[in-house]
Amino acid sequence: MSDRGIKRALSSSDMRWRERYGPWAAVTGATSGIGRAVAEDLARRGLDLVIAARRGELLDSLAQELNGRFGTETRTLAGDLALDETNDRLFAETLPLDVGLFVASAGFGTSGPLHRAQPDAELAMVDLNIRAVLKQTHHFAKRFAEQRRGGLVLLSSIVAWQGVPRASNYAATKAYVQSLAEALSHELGPLGVDVLASAPAQVASGFGARADMRMTGADPVPIARNTLDALGRRTLVIPHGKGKFLTAALAPLPRPLRVRVMATVMKGMTKHQPA
Ligand SMILES: NC(=O)c1ccc[n+]([C@@H]2O[C@H](COP(=O)([O-])OP(=O)(O)OC[C@H]3O[C@@H](n4cnc5c(N)ncnc54)[C@H](OP(=O)(O)O)[C@@H]3O)[C@@H](O)[C@H]2O)c1
Repeated sequence: MSDRGIKRALSSSDMRWRERYGPWAAVTGATSGIGRAVAEDLARRGLDLVIAARRGELLDSLAQELNGRFGTETRTLAGDLALDETNDRLFAETLPLDVGLFVASAGFGTSGPLHRAQPDAELAMVDLNIRAVLKQTHHFAKRFAEQRRGGLVLLSSIVAWQGVPRASNYAATKAYVQSLAEALSHELGPLGVDVLASAPAQVASGFGARADMRMTGADPVPIARNTLDALGRRTLVIPHGKGKFLTAALAPLPRPLRVRVMATVMKGMTKHQPA
């Protein structure tokens, strides 16, 4: 395994991590929030990166920052990952690299009753949160299964546990991701590939503004660290206390009651919207 690019000594645990999941990792949604924090954490662990999102200037400045701080190599891919052609570019550009980890963090939500939503925005969410994640996951699962080594991290959410009124389509996309990750962890585990679903609750990121939800969120840095620390140890991580609490509080309730509780939570987060 190449040590090219690393200009500093790594701890023995970072060396082991790099050997298991490196030397290269691909991270989508790296310009903001959880994906950005994951990219930074991976560079700290000594992995070289391919980072992808739409905003090329932000990707370039992050790449420069990571390479300067951690002595790693970071390449960028700017484009709309809801489009097949952007995913095909991602696959082509990562093919010559020894990639051992893929993190799918690009995603977005909307809020409000579905019957008042713009259908194009809801379909775009399905394209990015489901269709692109499936395409990416299939590609990297195949590569990692063939090389008998690797890790896949998919961003689920605690909204995946039941239907969520006023975020119905978003919650359904995350239920898809959660189910996909759970099943793949069984398929790929025996082939040496670790699959992890990370299901945060509210995180302070660009998510709330894009979804038009008012929410106070957790710092994405420990969310990223707890997620990466769980890879290879578990198949699901709820990477912070608020998510664990909400999950434990809702779990004993019958599913229809959980939907009603989530309706109340979402009402609070969307009460600024016109009635
Ligand atoms: N924040 C939360 O409370 C929360 C909770 C649970 C799960 N999650 C999940 O965690 C993941 C990351 O969310 P976040 O909180 O970090 O949100 P965020 O800060 O809004 O980051 C989303 C990232 O996705 C990228 N992205 C969005 N649309 C894209 C597209 N069409 N093509 C390529 N990249 C695109 C954005 O970059 P560009 O704008 O540059 O394209 C950005 O880097 C999402 O899958 C989200 O569903 C979030």
